[in-house]
Amino acid sequence: MEDLTPNSKDLDPIETASRDEIEALQFHRMKRSLRHAYENSPFYRKRFIEADVHPEELKTLADIAKFPFTYKQDLRDTYPFGMFAVPQSKLVRIHGSSGTTGKPTVVGYTAGDIEVWANLIARSIRAAGGRPGDILHNAYGYGLFTGGLGAHYGAEKLGCTVVPISGGMTERQVTLINDFKPSIIMVTPSYMLSILDEFHRQGIDPRQSSLKVGIFGAEPWTNAMREEIEQAFDMHAVDIYGLSEVMGPGVAQECVETKDGLHVWEDHFYPEIIDPVSGEVLPDGEMGELVFTTLTKEGLPMIRYRTRDLTRLLPGSARSMRRIEKITGRSDDMMILRGVNVFPTQIEEQILKCAGLAPHFQIELTRSGRMDNMIVHVECAEGFGDQDARAKSAKELAHHIKSVVGVSTKIEVCDPGRVARSEGKAKRVVDNRPAE
Ligand code: DLL
Repeated sequence: MEDLTPNSKDLDPIETASRDEIEALQFHRMKRSLRHAYENSPFYRKRFIEADVHPEELKTLADIAKFPFTYKQDLRDTYPFGMFAVPQSKLVRIHGSSGTTGKPTVVGYTAGDIEVWANLIARSIRAAGGRPGDILHNAYGYGLFTGGLGAHYGAEKLGCTVVPISGGMTERQVTLINDFKPSIIMVTPSYMLSILDEFHRQGIDPRQSSLKVGIFGAEPWTNAMREEIEQAFDMHAVDIYGLSEVMGPGVAQECVETKDGLHVWEDHFYPEIIDPVSGEVLPDGEMGELVFTTLTKEGLPMIRYRTRDLTRLLPGSARSMRRIEKITGRSDDMMILRGVNVFPTQIEEQILKCAGLAPHFQIELTRSGRMDNMIVHVECAEGFGDQDARAKSAKELAHHIKSVVGVSTKIEVCDPGRVARSEGKAKRVVDNRPAE
């Protein structure tokens, strides 16, 4: 794989600034953001008054802990435009969360917000090894989802040639990769696996493709999956994180030269890790729920937004801004089986250890009597389709899951193509337990 480390003179000065400089900027911006929320969003004004706190009480960055949390439910309760801090006429774009049921949660951007977002995506693509002039195949979905358009504007800002293909039509994805020869692909990791299958179906060697780096996010994925994709395509695989409520993709980005977690772009977002039950702020290094305060957003400032994503904060490495460890999962995706907490990423890790299995899987939860059961549906790998090989793989996976994760599972090894594919975020858990 090519060394794609960016030239340090191309970085934004703040990317390598001292911690003191970063914190001074954060404090100044945090104060301004709190004032903006208080003065211009009736929602926040009411919240702050109820909590008996005022923006002027922020004397240090740590004082942010005095301010109340904001939840996804707040966006639902104020649907569609109730939390905005600017008149609707000042918004140039609306996006919505993918929300599987009911109404989407709506987020809005001023022209200034779109500019900041594009700059942060440009910074993220550069950290991933992208350069002006690169052809970038953007297979994140365009539309209300922030992935497609978010990546698009930033890629243009960096000076890339964007192929705005969006998700879906997998055969054509492969054709265009072969014809246009992009060096960068932006897509969910699970859809990248479908693209990989299509390379094989068309009899094209993925290692010979023009791709040098994949920028994967929008769903949890493991270092084992990184390895799998890097080997299959002979390219770098780096992680991009974000959420619509806070902006979209580009809140945090992994650097290609270190691949050691994602640098939070701390000049625009202030991260905290809290205990999800007590709400108490935890020291750096401890595992908990990620919370963000936006420092520069105009349209929809977010004060202490509870992401439900579980990770820990680590010190800077390739950049001075702090990192988050690869996200383990969302608290909503956590399954509890006989008292053991299980995340789909833990199952993914174990599947990737088994040579006879392909990395396409779905977890089904069922109930017999009062017992919850977990069935892992996973596809056999090429050449491991006969009954004996399947039985052996199933036994091997059950053993790994039992010894590493600590739960007993039933494994169903199925034919290639039998596990439902998604063109964006994979649905990893199907809950077939009867409603309580
Ligand atoms: O998924 C934004 C995005 C688009 C990020 C493209 C990266 C690439 P939402 O649809 O609002 O926004 O979903 C946000 O997805 O709270 C996480 O649970 C999950 N997520 C996003 N990126 C990652 C990642 C976009 N790199 C929710 N690793 C977040 C793990 C991720 N989970």
